[in-house]
Amino acid sequence: MKILILNGPNLNLLGIREPQIYGTETLDDISDWLNRQPDANMHDITWFQSNHEGDLIDQVHESMNLFDGIILNPGALTHYSYALRDAIASVHIPAVEVHLSDINAREDFRKISVIKDQCISQISGLGKHVYIEAIKTLVKHF
Ligand code: DQA
Repeated sequence: MKILILNGPNLNLLGIREPQIYGTETLDDISDWLNRQPDANMHDITWFQSNHEGDLIDQVHESMNLFDGIILNPGALTHYSYALRDAIASVHIPAVEVHLSDINAREDFRKISVIKDQCISQISGLGKHVYIEAIKTLVKHF
């Protein structure tokens, strides 16, 4: 499968950013780790991170006819970006929403995802393992 892994605002600061919540590994560390996992390494995986909502939306649009599935960690955009939600709804590519932290066990505003119901699943709270679980979810979906 060709899979696009999209990461939103502030996820470029993984490793530095609130390590007690998000851990000490960088996004590159996580991507290197994922490439070594047997459930992931047979797939063609592209990573993209941006702090800009419009760039993420452009990537979702450009994924049409290129990717079989999208794994999306929208960061804080999860909680309010109707534009990103509409982009996912528009492209007809199965998407899985992921979060490193358990968004349901944190502040109330994080319990709301405006994107979740456009995705086949939401996986949160397993740290970097959310990415592998999301790949397994996409594989089962096909
Ligand atoms: C996050 C959770 C969001 O609430 C937060 O804004 C993030 C990261 C996570 O991976 O746990 O930036 O998506």
